[in-house]
Parts: sequence; C-alpha cells; structure tokens
Amino acid sequence: MAFVDQLEAFKSERLAPLLGAGRTSLASDAPGDATQLLQIALANEINVSELAAAWMPTTRELDVKLAFARQAGDEAGHFQLVSDRLAALGFDIAGFTPTDSPLFQYLRGLTATVERIAAGLFTLESIAYGVNENFMALCERRGDLETVRIYREYIQPDEAAHHQLGQRLLARYAVTPELQQAARDTVAGLLEIAGAARASAAARLGTACFPGC
Ligand SMILES: [Fe+2]
Ligand SMILES: [Fe+2]
Repeated sequence: MAFVDQLEAFKSERLAPLLGAGRTSLASDAPGDATQLLQIALANEINVSELAAAWMPTTRELDVKLAFARQAGDEAGHFQLVSDRLAALGFDIAGFTPTDSPLFQYLRGLTATVERIAAGLFTLESIAYGVNENFMALCERRGDLETVRIYREYIQPDEAAHHQLGQRLLARYAVTPELQQAARDTVAGLLEIAGAARASAAARLGTACFPGC
C-alpha cells in the first residue's frame, strides 16, 4: 500500500472516536445554540489562517509555501462567512476576541516541512471536515438551513481541497522511512492533543457536536 494510503488509514482509525463523540451528542439532542457553536468555528478559522500565514515565509519548498498561502486566504474567507452568519443571527462580532490553545501552540512549534503538511493540511483539515459534517447535521435538524448552505457550498469544499493538497504534498515529500515516521508521529500527536482539547470543550459546552478542530 502507498504510504499516504497507509497514513490515511492510521489517521481515520484515530479520528473515529472524536467524530463518534459528536454523533453521540447529535443523537442525544445535546444542547448548544448556533451562536455559541459558531463562535468556536470563528476562533478556529482565524487560528488556522494565522498558523498557515506564519508557516508561509519559513517554508522553503515553493509548492508547500503556496499551499499555506492559499490555506491562509481560504480560512480568512471562512472567518468572514461565519462572522457574517453570526451577525445575521444577532451576535455582535465586535465582542469577539480570538483565543489561543495548546493545540495551536503545538502546531506553531512544528518546523519541519513534512510535519507541517502532516499536521496543518492532512490532519487538521480532516478533523475540520468531519466535525463540520456533524455540526451541519445538527443545524439541519434545527432548521438552520442557511448555516448548512454556507458550510456545504463554501467551507467544506475548501477544507476537502486543503486535505487533498496535504495528501499530494506528503506523497511528494515524505519519501524516506525517517520522514514517513515523522509524519506518522505528527498525525498521532496532533490527534491526541485535538482529542483532549475537544473532550474538555465538550464537557464545558455540554455537547461534543461543534464545528472547527
Ligand atoms: Fe476553514
Ligand atoms: Fe481548511
């Protein structure tokens, strides 16, 4: 099996409990209003945008540098879409302040190109895509079809494209056993931190069904 396919299977296995928790909350009609949950998405979009922007000038490989630049722009677009939706729902966006987290502190500490691709594009974007699907199901059930539309038409196609970009770049750069091991370790490390972060957010919110990563 090709390395990227192996890594995809490795990631899916570790991602499954995280996505399963969201589905359990969804099935049990857990609380959480759209305004509160969309603010989590907002914080996430700005953090991913900043992360990709920070990585751009310090990544030597041109195709990877451009992937981060594109990601930074796309995530800024997602921030705008979510913030417009929040404004339409009556939330005053002036009151929003981005928050940092151990997840993004870990990500900012990654310096190797293969680790950055494995974390920022390949894994983070898979988490985002999966948890957003659960969140869209929640919005659909509550009749918030406009939020569903924004995710389906704009945000999810971008997150899927970012993940595919991660797959292609890993196939190109993770070409030695050492680099492949580094990629695997990064995927495992990030999923562990993300799983813990989402579990503590779920305890605080009373639901594991929320967007972002
Ligand atoms: Fe995004
Ligand atoms: Fe993305």
